Amino acid sequence: MARIKTQYKCRSCGYISASYLGRCPNCGAWNQFEKETQEVQKRSAKVAPSQLIKKTGLNEPVNLDKIKAEKEERIETESEELNRVLGGGIVPGSLVLIGGDPGIGKSTLMLQIMSDLSKKYKVLYVSGEESANQIKLRADRLGVGQSQMLLYPETDMHDIRDQIDDVKPDFVVIDSIQTMNEPSLDSMTGSASQVREVTSELMKIAKMDAITVFVIGHVTKEGAIAGPKILEHMVDTVLYFEGDEHHSYRILHSVKNRFGAANEIGMFEMENEGLKEVTNPSSIFLDQRLPKSTGSAVVVSLEGTRPLLAEIQALVTPTAFGYAKRTTSGIDYNRAALLLAVLEKRGNLMLQNQDVYLTATGGIRLNEPAIDVAAIMAVASSYTDKEISPTDCFIGEVGLTGEIRRVNKVDSRIKEAAKVGFERIFIPKHNMSKKLTDFGIEVIPVSSVSQALKLVFG
Ligand code: TYD
Ligand code: MG
Repeated sequence: MARIKTQYKCRSCGYISASYLGRCPNCGAWNQFEKETQEVQKRSAKVAPSQLIKKTGLNEPVNLDKIKAEKEERIETESEELNRVLGGGIVPGSLVLIGGDPGIGKSTLMLQIMSDLSKKYKVLYVSGEESANQIKLRADRLGVGQSQMLLYPETDMHDIRDQIDDVKPDFVVIDSIQTMNEPSLDSMTGSASQVREVTSELMKIAKMDAITVFVIGHVTKEGAIAGPKILEHMVDTVLYFEGDEHHSYRILHSVKNRFGAANEIGMFEMENEGLKEVTNPSSIFLDQRLPKSTGSAVVVSLEGTRPLLAEIQALVTPTAFGYAKRTTSGIDYNRAALLLAVLEKRGNLMLQNQDVYLTATGGIRLNEPAIDVAAIMAVASSYTDKEISPTDCFIGEVGLTGEIRRVNKVDSRIKEAAKVGFERIFIPKHNMSKKLTDFGIEVIPVSSVSQALKLVFG
């Protein structure tokens, strides 16, 4: 579909303006602007299915049982954490979106991973945010300044496409999607339609030329408008890089993955020389626990397929102004309110006139229901001022009648707790089976909140 674009060009210096001007702002000449019309070919926004079919070698419907599926090839990076988050390495020809707040470390992560890959593969790093000089300085700081990666500071998608055709890289990084501009569209760089168009262009590049493309996207403060959210359905894999500015820990989190499990996490620590992998995250979340303190309980939470020990802290203090306040961080507010109500009704704790603060330490977010029992124990410990043995940990979901409900993957959770050195783990009674007793940790099945409270606090 062709579209006519009108512009005005200065005869003396070639300056182009969208509207007629009396005086050229560039060379200062008067009455030099003349009208020009251009036919703009609008590119189709979607990957033509026929082209995908060509790639797979099929051009008509085929019986599923006649298709010989080859196992996906994977390229492993030197970062174990990234490999796991991607489901066992990078799938060639995939389009991966890395989202996150500005300044969280997305460019740093990509620079480190890509300079490692550039030892064996051709890598093109397109930056619309920083100059080649800035990137070089950062690369030197990260100790990867000597790598063979190709740097290309550019924002025009036509030029980028041309360079990709010329260079024929194995990997392309686009840093960031919000700075890229598809010139055949009128809309502003960074707008929703631009971001979508550029992404579909990159999808074509990835699928047709079997180039792996990493796209960096900033999550915008105004609620992710024109941010990675609107692209999630278009790309193969969506990773979010999270963490808060006050902690040096960063969590890479897969939200969607066409080639592996979603919700997988990888942990990194931001240091002066860049991101370092954290291989035993459980010990990090636990190493700052105070001995003999009340209001702390440990949970074995599952992030993707990975069990992780995390500490939940609660502080219960009498309400000063009549209206009891509840504050949470890293734990869902409504979930916490529900648990407090259950604790009040089924555990006979008077919490109506108590302010309750509940946090998951270390900046991690605990979203699964299996953390319920630990949250309840932390609150009860603070309320009763009785400590929980530092070698106890908890898993279990809590229902409204005070029952403790089954959770998934108990065995891997118990194994992790035993590995980190815990001595007792409380699990839902319905999860109990004989084989769970062989992991070198005492397993205590509990069926209700009141029973668990009795066992722990007497
Ligand atoms: P950056 O990768 O530029 O973030 P993004 O691309 O997500 O916007 O990371 C910038 C932050 O990381 C900046 O605040 C400085 C910090 N940083 C370090 O602490 N150590 C380092 O080695 C590097 C390169 C950055
Ligand atoms: Mg950046």
